[in-house]
Amino acid sequence: MTTSLLTDAISFEENSLYEAIISDILEQGYSICDTFFEESLVDLLRNDLQALYHQSELKKAAIGNRINESIEKDIRGDYIQWIDEVKANSVEKKFFERIKDFKNYLNKTCFMGLLHQEFHYAVYPQGTFYKRHIDTFQNDDRRKLSMVCYLNDRSWKTTNGGELVLYPEGLEEITVHPLPGRVVIFESQQLEHEVKKVLNEERLSITGWLKTR
Ligand code: OGA
Ligand code: MN
Repeated sequence: MTTSLLTDAISFEENSLYEAIISDILEQGYSICDTFFEESLVDLLRNDLQALYHQSELKKAAIGNRINESIEKDIRGDYIQWIDEVKANSVEKKFFERIKDFKNYLNKTCFMGLLHQEFHYAVYPQGTFYKRHIDTFQNDDRRKLSMVCYLNDRSWKTTNGGELVLYPEGLEEITVHPLPGRVVIFESQQLEHEVKKVLNEERLSITGWLKTR
């Protein structure tokens, strides 16, 4: 018993990127990180999403969960496709490896009890938005952390709109531009947020949740 604990302690490697994200979340409820994924992986994920979008494989996103959902374009206007981990291609597998590495780190260092992850691609066409909301449903509170990764290309201009606005309680709102490779992580049950109207281009991302039992 003692030996295995010792081995665990020795084999555990501190990850400075993850540590920075964790302290951000503990201090302010969210973290913004521009180096979570390798640039080359972001490029490959963007290609995958663009191909799906041009093959019309994405569906209009709904409000509510899968039992209780309705499409209300006055609230959200994005198109999504859930990524099935079992059928994931090699690029998506790499994405999930990174996510699971982070999830395992959170479980080891913060005892978060994160069991599952669910992620979808999202495209916000010009003129669409997602009104202020939180990411939990009335009949499902398993979502603990929300993660958004932007897949826009390097020519994305801040004048394209589509900013993510975070509303931390009692503090000033934070405006986040959806720059390529940027990852935003926040507490799903706490932090209200919205996606401002996209003014130009299509806004591309992968969004998902780390969930407890
Ligand atoms: C969501 C969401 C934020 C973003 O899909 O629930 O809030 O920046 N997305 O895309
Ligand atoms: Mn949301």
